[in-house]
Amino acid sequence: MNFKEELQERTGQVNELIQKFLPKEEGFAAELAQAMNYSMTAGGKRLRPILMWESYRLFGGKGQVVAPFMAAMEMIHTHSLIHDDLPALDNDEYRRGKKTTHAQFGEAMGILSGDALLNYAYEVAFHAFYLEPDNKNIPLALQILSSKTGIYGMLGGQSVDVTNEGKEISEEMLLYIYENKTSALIEASMMVGAALAGASDEKIRGMEQVASKVGLAFQIQDDILDVTSTTEELGKPVHSDEKNQKVTYVTLYGIEQAAKKVEMLSREAIFMLDILKEKNEFLRELILSLITRTK
Ligand code: IPE
Ligand code: IPE
Ligand code: MG
Ligand code: MG
Ligand code: MG
Repeated sequence: MNFKEELQERTGQVNELIQKFLPKEEGFAAELAQAMNYSMTAGGKRLRPILMWESYRLFGGKGQVVAPFMAAMEMIHTHSLIHDDLPALDNDEYRRGKKTTHAQFGEAMGILSGDALLNYAYEVAFHAFYLEPDNKNIPLALQILSSKTGIYGMLGGQSVDVTNEGKEISEEMLLYIYENKTSALIEASMMVGAALAGASDEKIRGMEQVASKVGLAFQIQDDILDVTSTTEELGKPVHSDEKNQKVTYVTLYGIEQAAKKVEMLSREAIFMLDILKEKNEFLRELILSLITRTK
């Protein structure tokens, strides 16, 4: 199998796994479940669960314990997208090739289904205790997942991003925003994978550094595509950043410099993986492929 086929296979496996954990669309709150499932099944690259799985494999993980964490990770990410698109934040109408959740179900359901997915993620992650009652690494994995999502992670970054629209910001603040709104969940993915496989604290911190670079590169590429791509290709609106007067790596340094930065950060991440004694060729190729991703 070549890399592309392998990625397709992995994505399919992640989709099947996610499907198993989704809430049932029944009872009085059926519409809430529908709104949650609408965004969860709309597509998406499933990058974070795949990174978690590959990091788990990298450190020799072979069990089932990673599965609920992979589903939980994608739920937290999808929550972040639903809320990111709300009128009060980026106010965007398309996501993953479909109308955004608030455009489809109304703003109240956009808010509530985002909240419900964030909470449901932890309901799902707790299944890990039933799957492997003797696995001592689960509390650490939960701690990483929750802290990278909150004020010292994604939500911290989103808050600084949204409150500084239309303002001139320093490079230091821009880095804080990217490191948190985007890198934090990618760090959580790779660190949780490593933690569940029983990697040492030092190795987990190493994965945090790798993922930090992958995340920064990922956000800069997202900013480039916001300017250079099309809505059809991305499945979300282009020129969203300009509309919201965001300072981005592209507005500060231009597309060419931004693209160079994506490549440099990604190669640094790969170098850090290459010097580990543990090997995962697919993970390496995945990070490499993100340099030239078009969606
Ligand atoms: C979009 O994430 C939000 C950013 C952090 C840039 P993805 O590009 O991974 O979105 P999906 O999951 O594939 O839809
Ligand atoms: C996304 O930043 C970060 C999160 C959703 C946490 P963007 O606002 O650039 O993401 P897109 O472009 O809407 O996917
Ligand atoms: Mg945003
Ligand atoms: Mg946005
Ligand atoms: Mg964007």
